Amino acid sequence: AYHWSQFDIPEMDQEIVPELTEERVVKALRRSIRQEGKRVGNIAVTASDITASCKMIANYKDTKCFNSLMADTTSKEFTSPEHPRRYPANSRCQWQIRAPKGYAISVKFRTFHIEDDCANDYVAIYDSLSPDSTYAITKQCGLRPPTNPLEVVSSGNIMLVNLITDKVQRPGFRAVYTVIPAIAAGSCGASLTTPTGNFTSPQFPSFYPPLIDCNWNINVKRRRLVLSSATNTLEVKFHSDESYTDKGFRITYTAFDPVNPCPGQFACTSGYCIKKEQHCDGWNDCEDMSDEKSCHCDDEQFTCSNGLCRPQYFVCDRVNDCGDNSDEEHCDCGRAEERCGDGACIPQEFICDGKNDCADGSDEVSCVASAGICNDFSFKCKNKQCVNKVNAECDREEDCSDGSDEQGCNCGVRPYKHNRIVGGQNSDVGEWPWQVSLHFQTSGHVCGASVISNKWLLSAAHCFIQPDSISNWLTYSGLRDQNIKDSVQKRTLKNIITHPNYDSMTYDYDISLLELSDPLNFTNTVHPICLPAPTHVFSAGSSCFVTGWGTLREGGSVAQILQKAEVKVINDTVCNMVTEGQVTSRMMCSGYLTGGVDACQGDSGGPLVCRSDVGKWFQAGIVSWGEGCARRNKPGIYTRVTKLRDWIREITNI
Ligand code: ARG
Repeated sequence: AYHWSQFDIPEMDQEIVPELTEERVVKALRRSIRQEGKRVGNIAVTASDITASCKMIANYKDTKCFNSLMADTTSKEFTSPEHPRRYPANSRCQWQIRAPKGYAISVKFRTFHIEDDCANDYVAIYDSLSPDSTYAITKQCGLRPPTNPLEVVSSGNIMLVNLITDKVQRPGFRAVYTVIPAIAAGSCGASLTTPTGNFTSPQFPSFYPPLIDCNWNINVKRRRLVLSSATNTLEVKFHSDESYTDKGFRITYTAFDPVNPCPGQFACTSGYCIKKEQHCDGWNDCEDMSDEKSCHCDDEQFTCSNGLCRPQYFVCDRVNDCGDNSDEEHCDCGRAEERCGDGACIPQEFICDGKNDCADGSDEVSCVASAGICNDFSFKCKNKQCVNKVNAECDREEDCSDGSDEQGCNCGVRPYKHNRIVGGQNSDVGEWPWQVSLHFQTSGHVCGASVISNKWLLSAAHCFIQPDSISNWLTYSGLRDQNIKDSVQKRTLKNIITHPNYDSMTYDYDISLLELSDPLNFTNTVHPICLPAPTHVFSAGSSCFVTGWGTLREGGSVAQILQKAEVKVINDTVCNMVTEGQVTSRMMCSGYLTGGVDACQGDSGGPLVCRSDVGKWFQAGIVSWGEGCARRNKPGIYTRVTKLRDWIREITNI
């Protein structure tokens, strides 16, 4: 039996509320309840748990959204007030859900749209009937795409769902609740004997319930397990306490023969088998560095303190290539000198002198002393004022007196909230709302592009080489799966403007602007990317994402689901070395010199985007070319958007 009391504090006494801590309320209640000896009829009553919550009570006014629900084996539904219209301001709603003994409760949110900031608007779910934080299952806000639904399970036969909002109103949610046998809800663990297999946390990818313990015993005959086991058994334990749960995990295991784990190959300590040539080649092929330990470095290599060998040109490039930073130590320039971002040394007085002395311009980017003085690296406001600050545009701080640095900033955000949890490289719905798929006649997808306004797309010039008619092209925005086109925005082209300096031999100036015949509507899945100012800095070593439906490997077939890959911006000097001087200042390198991650055929024209400090996404590059795909020492080459920013403005006025 659950007993629930609510105390109302008269308006005039509201100032005493802060003194009413949960702890004090519980103490007072405990004191006043004589635990022993109470009888109702002939049943002895004992209070086993007393909890209090002041949060729900504070400025709680209307009682119409207090709900008591009984869950059973049929699926029933509840929604936030007024759903699908917006919920009222300052809502304090609760749904107490009970189920028969022996059952647990499952609640699946079919739609979920609460204010983005969890501070004042949120849905809180408890493994209890009172909003007691020690039994909180989760607290969520924001807009969730259908591919990332919120689905929770209780440990016992009670659950509480609270909706707390301030004056910002959103459509709220629609949820379906039902019962599952309590034993099934948290059932987990097994005895596994097959040489490879996988298992997941209970209810995966829904949230696992609180209060569970799982044990998986993997016992494979004769062979050994790849990760961490020296024997043929491995035990995996999983414990979930009484509060806060999440989506959990999926585990894959593989066993191998310890006598001859890698016939004809090098055996890593990590369990992987790699080619003999990959042993001591300076690259971490085993993922645990075991193939690069105790090696003898040759003349073209640098010996790191930890014994690894690295190409000499990685030394002093400001990227920690050894892992222990030894390739970046002793890189000091001479006295009265400073280092550029690419490692070169320049005299101190060249810093902030308004001239580009470092190849990457890093000597002129953060010149605070020269406030207002214009140089090549200043951000230029509309009123011609100069701001000497790194990446001043759309950083939520007004730097220009006319505010022009914060104008046109409705870009680079993704309305849907994303969990990057289910591994893999498939994108979520609305994860890259600026991504466009370009279709040519009946060939289907051929190139990517990005949305930069409701009328203009940005793409690569080499996608439009043949003198074909404009009517052969179709653009799809808001697309994720090439086979599901129901909610996408399909447009034809009115104009293709290729950069006049585009060189089909060198791929210099590989950029085109596409004018749409009809404007796009911005939605949860269609939204523009921010264009960086010409002076925007994407520093070497920072992480960006490239997206597209291009081939999944060199010579492979194109992807059906939009793919994403995290790649690193590569230092220009290194970029120039590995491409043997084929990159111009309108190009940049991104990827991994170790290979393995890259854009590929069919990704061309698509965006390389990087997240700014305030969480906005800016387009740094356009997929342009590369030698093969994901090859070692052959990173992807992208059109450098900052260099062509002024041309984009000239044509489109964006
Ligand atoms: N040119 C290719 C295309 O038309 C894209 C090449 C990108 N290659 C790379 N390795 N990053 O789709």
